[in-house]
Amino acid sequence: MEPTRDRAWETLTRYTKSEALLRHALAVEAGVRAYAAKSGDDEELWSAVALLHDFDYEIHPTLDKHPQDGAAILREEGWPEEVITAVLSHANHLGLPRDTPLKKTLFACDELSGFIHACGLVRPDGIETLEPRSVRKKLKQPSFASGVNRDDVYEGAEELGVDLDEHIAFVIEAMRPIAPELGLRTAA
Ligand SMILES: [Fe+2]
Ligand SMILES: [Fe+2]
Repeated sequence: MEPTRDRAWETLTRYTKSEALLRHALAVEAGVRAYAAKSGDDEELWSAVALLHDFDYEIHPTLDKHPQDGAAILREEGWPEEVITAVLSHANHLGLPRDTPLKKTLFACDELSGFIHACGLVRPDGIETLEPRSVRKKLKQPSFASGVNRDDVYEGAEELGVDLDEHIAFVIEAMRPIAPELGLRTAA
């Protein structure tokens, strides 16, 4: 099967009805796809992996099943191994190597995009004027968006080899065009 964004969206929405999870998929996709465009990599492939990385979370909400049992479903549907190994690599508990730019990018955008989303929810204009400085400040407040693993955010940027401020700014910019779909307010 040719890994395309449309096919990934189709698979994702077949297994995922939760608006929060769909928004998470879209937010991660925005960052990952923007990095693919930046480096000239395959945007359709990278989008597909980002959309699919948590596709089974609604049916497998525990780490003894997510994402490994989801991988079996993807295999049955005919998704290529390149997609499946990238999806599996985002899960720290599996201890798989993140040895490609796609895997590193997915991990670096996963928790961070959720955190940026949380920052945007408490601002009058969403993420429109959000800056890395204010994201970093919130990262240091353990009670804010406490579900987001800070270590994953820092490690993700480090593994990707990007400066954290630049990475945060890049992901915010990638998410801005889809702010309305993410349920974030906009200045207009
Ligand atoms: Fe996950
Ligand atoms: Fe995720």
